[in-house]
Amino acid sequence: ANKLGSKKERTLALIKPDVVTKMGDVIDLIYSSSLIVTKAKMTTLTWSQAADFYVEHQSKPFFNNLVQFASSGPVVAMELMGDEAVSTWRRLLGPADSAAARKEAPQSIRAQFGTDVVKNVGHGSESLSAAARELEFFFPSTIGHGPPNTATFTDC
Ligand code: PPS
Repeated sequence: ANKLGSKKERTLALIKPDVVTKMGDVIDLIYSSSLIVTKAKMTTLTWSQAADFYVEHQSKPFFNNLVQFASSGPVVAMELMGDEAVSTWRRLLGPADSAAARKEAPQSIRAQFGTDVVKNVGHGSESLSAAARELEFFFPSTIGHGPPNTATFTDC
């Protein structure tokens, strides 16, 4: 925590295939919040990459459906940074089921742009440790081929 008692965190935000053509609307809402976008990448996951990403849900009855949807088109992965970024981003998203979000959190991103529990606009890491794993998944720190993944933001 800094001297004001706030806790700067980083979290992984994923814009899912259902709204990727309207990502500006989602990003506007991020910029209206206290969070900033510190990394971003558009990519299309293979089935197997999406299954790795969602490994924590592999025993759930909806796993195949979730992986199928997540690999059905382009997604935008972002690193968000700010005070309590993990919980702040999940609160902005609202409940996983967009229909429930419209009842319980009408201002939330899923309430405004989501369809149901599958087409639900976005994903947010559940915890700091999940955020670390998911950020490494999309923005690996390992030096390899391609453009270097140098950090453009350190601590704002
Ligand atoms: S759980 O069991 O409480 O962890 O599940 P929940 O938080 O509701 O959802 C976790 C993620 O699974 C997605 N989901 C589904 N995908 C496809 N089909 C069905 N039926 C389904 N139910 C839940 C949900 O959108 C969540 O995705 P993320 O990307 O993590 O938000």
